[in-house]
Amino acid sequence: MSSKNNPSDLTPAQIADLQQQATAVAHNAYAPYSNFRVGAAILLSNGAIVTGCNVENASYRLTTCAEQSAIAAAVAQHGPAIRIRAIAIANLNNTASQPCGACRQTIHEFSTPDTIIFFPSENGTTAQATTADLLPAAFLLSK
Ligand code: THU
Repeated sequence: MSSKNNPSDLTPAQIADLQQQATAVAHNAYAPYSNFRVGAAILLSNGAIVTGCNVENASYRLTTCAEQSAIAAAVAQHGPAIRIRAIAIANLNNTASQPCGACRQTIHEFSTPDTIIFFPSENGTTAQATTADLLPAAFLLSK
């Protein structure tokens, strides 16, 4: 899954901080239906870090994923020109979990070729991938 060796150029401490913030915000998740609490921490190209968690709904399909809530917050706080340098995803179940397909498309919208995504893999390890690794054929709007 990891095609390049940390192309984001982040230090191990920066990566650990991003993961810690993703885990911290997962505690705020509203997930009474799945009990699967997810957090996402985004490092923007301007150096800011913005976090988000999943927010479920009794009408299940209205659920917002952690990645999407973090991106919405980042746009609200920093404007429409944001670029994602890196995003760390965490869950409180200590299980492997990759961003869902919808989140991959949402991440793609604000990615660069070097955007790196860190997510929980098997046995407590972290996997990393570029957006293109996870979504090689994103939808693009051409009118
Ligand atoms: N979830 C996320 O927050 N991000 C993903 O990429 C996958 C799934 C959430 C949605 C739902 O609240 C719970 O995880 C179980 O699917």
